Amino acid sequence: MSEIKLNTQEIDKFVTLADINGIRSEIESAREVLMSGNGAGNDFLGWLKLPENITENTINATVIEAERLAKMSDTVVVIGIGGSYLGTRAVVEALLAKGRKNRAADLVYAGHTMDPDYYAQLMKRLDKEDYSVIVISKSGTTTEPAIAFRLIRQHLEKKYGKEGANRRIAVITDAHKGALHTIANAEGFPQFVIPDNVGGRFSVLTPVGLLPIAAAGYDIAKLLAGAKEMQEECLCCKKIEESPALMYATLRNLLYRKGYKVEVLTSFKYGLRYFSEWWKQLYGESEGKDGKGILPCSMNFTTDLHSLGQYMQEGERMVFETMLEVAQSSNEFTVPSDIDNIDGLNYIADRTLTYVNNNALKGTRDAHLSGGVPVIGLEIPRIDEKVLGQLIYFFEFACAVSGYTLGVNPFNQPGVEAYKTNMFRLLGKPGF
Ligand code: PA5
Repeated sequence: MSEIKLNTQEIDKFVTLADINGIRSEIESAREVLMSGNGAGNDFLGWLKLPENITENTINATVIEAERLAKMSDTVVVIGIGGSYLGTRAVVEALLAKGRKNRAADLVYAGHTMDPDYYAQLMKRLDKEDYSVIVISKSGTTTEPAIAFRLIRQHLEKKYGKEGANRRIAVITDAHKGALHTIANAEGFPQFVIPDNVGGRFSVLTPVGLLPIAAAGYDIAKLLAGAKEMQEECLCCKKIEESPALMYATLRNLLYRKGYKVEVLTSFKYGLRYFSEWWKQLYGESEGKDGKGILPCSMNFTTDLHSLGQYMQEGERMVFETMLEVAQSSNEFTVPSDIDNIDGLNYIADRTLTYVNNNALKGTRDAHLSGGVPVIGLEIPRIDEKVLGQLIYFFEFACAVSGYTLGVNPFNQPGVEAYKTNMFRLLGKPGF
């Protein structure tokens, strides 16, 4: 059984049992459409059974390549954008506090921005460190990572020579097509495949996420095992009350219909900042289309209580909150006692930071509820590979059901082409 618990105790002020009964058949039939494979975007359902279908051979080959890269590197540069970047960063940043294998590389990222100032900083770092590169692009033609690969490859070849550089590059792309596939074939780079039937934002449990996460020293077998537990739960539970993922999809659709158009994912764990970024892409790209969709936002507390917290408490009442609550931390500190007590903090002297942070969470949840913000609690016991695997699958499954309930194709992203077309025309790309 999965370890994720949905806390809906406080939601009845905003969503009644009658509301849930009213949407029940829509949610359950959205789930049926997903499971039958007859819905819109059904050629992108490979993620549904990824945790179950991935073979031990694939996991082993991924770990072997990750260790090869990490062994010769202080740093691995992960080049990718969107779904080819955010899943890795979500998992790795969340796990940093937990500790990892001794022989692992630090990850840095490229291809997710075209800001020259970012690359100047990155190159300065890479001048001093031994590094290797994982380039990720499903299409193999995305502009941002393609430019980054040119830049980093030039740097790599200057530093290690052409042959040395080539030994330090691994590619994750389509099995048959795309410029990256062609380059990798020509140069003999090790290649890992993004399955055709898995879209970018659903691809973290393919080599897209697995190779860099393993290079960073984390246990991808455990990540997949956690995802598999959640897969089993989601695929077997048909009723809303039996399935936290279905209940989550239900509540967010009901709140949306009641005028709560913005969902804010919040957490009091600093390491989950990038998990929120991954979640925002998953929900934003899956649901924001056809003039519809909840706007996914995120806040990291208590940091953002001192900025956007004001809006949450007293701004326009169109916001609901999904609060990710983590029971345990990997580390602990206690507040030091101070004989002078000038700052007046001795009332919490010798208390743990977890105790203080948890009370901030309780205080915030109560304040938001009484301020008119519906709060869905999502409780997890700790942050480790297994729980993150569960959480990833939980959000993916709920997202697909939620998108079908909303009446959109959750697996396409036609809107992302608009800026590209304009940019290509302005840049003078042939054919635009
Ligand atoms: O979810 C998606 O499909 C997108 O965010 C893509 O992952 C992103 O645009 C990168 O595409 P590619 O992997 O083809 O470079």
